[in-house]
Amino acid sequence: MKKSNLPASGTLSESRRKFIEKAGLTTVMSTFGVAFFTSCSTSEEDDVNPSNTNTGGNSSTAGITVSGSTITVDLSVQTRLATAGGWLLIGSAATLVANINGSYVALTSVCTHSGCTDNWAFANSRFTCTCHGSVFDSSGGVIQGPANSPLKQFATSLAANKLTITK
Ligand code: FES
Repeated sequence: MKKSNLPASGTLSESRRKFIEKAGLTTVMSTFGVAFFTSCSTSEEDDVNPSNTNTGGNSSTAGITVSGSTITVDLSVQTRLATAGGWLLIGSAATLVANINGSYVALTSVCTHSGCTDNWAFANSRFTCTCHGSVFDSSGGVIQGPANSPLKQFATSLAANKLTITK
């Protein structure tokens, strides 16, 4: 009788079953692995340079002077901030500034959750730290965690179209 090189039929079925299980697991892991890494790394976050001044979409630092604990913003140059709803992230001074219906607020950009400084969005008078989603009102108060303490607020004054922030 001629010997077959194939395993017994029961063994072959078992091999196929294991292969299919492994292939399915690999497919699931690949899909979720790609989704996980995509959600944890965005090109926007990767492009942030802490030494730069992020102007809420405009990377120009023109018209901004940082001297010790005093920041001066020339609103005739940083026209984005001159408009209600405009905002700046002054990365070199770890400061957020926004125009709230013609009044100015300045807050630390160091998130009280775990210290992210450069990942901020601003809309509807609310700052959102995009690191983990904490939301703060225009006075720095926590609207939504995970942060559970407010952002420090800085004094602002306006004269001759120049905004001065004192930390
Ligand atoms: Fe801001 Fe986590 S560091 S929400």
